[in-house]
Amino acid sequence: MTAMRLTVNGVQREIDVDPRTLLVHAIREQVGLTGTHVGCLTGDCGACTVVLDGRTAKSCSVLALSADGSAVDTVESLADGDDLHPVQQAFWDEFAFQCGFCLPGMLLTAKELLESTPDPDDAQVLAALNGNLCRCTGYNTIVSAVRKASGCATTCVKESPCR
Ligand code: FES
Repeated sequence: MTAMRLTVNGVQREIDVDPRTLLVHAIREQVGLTGTHVGCLTGDCGACTVVLDGRTAKSCSVLALSADGSAVDTVESLADGDDLHPVQQAFWDEFAFQCGFCLPGMLLTAKELLESTPDPDDAQVLAALNGNLCRCTGYNTIVSAVRKASGCATTCVKESPCR
């Protein structure tokens, strides 16, 4: 086992990992945050999406040790207690998920999109979510949710990025 450090959702953590451990497994098993999901483990589904040093990444495709010293934000970083992040609230309002398995990745990818493109059109939303697969809903309500959340993004992101 090898010691490493991660700052997860703003909290510095020291964990011990096998050199073969994937970041998704370190987050779930060593850090104990299970909102990051394990789907395909091949980089295709996006269920394992986290924000790694400021950019979304598929944590099944990253060795934990290669992220030593990095900052990771997971889906658990979004809500403030019972107050949902605007992107979460929009997904809730638009019924944009069913089983919820893809949801953590969808939310983090949507948030990243809105930070760079506060008022995306449907094509931009679909392009951004290209690497996040949902097997339940189809994508219409997901696109609606991201467009709805953009209403917040256009007013609040510049002054105070959505948490
Ligand atoms: Fe990482 Fe599917 S579990 S992309």
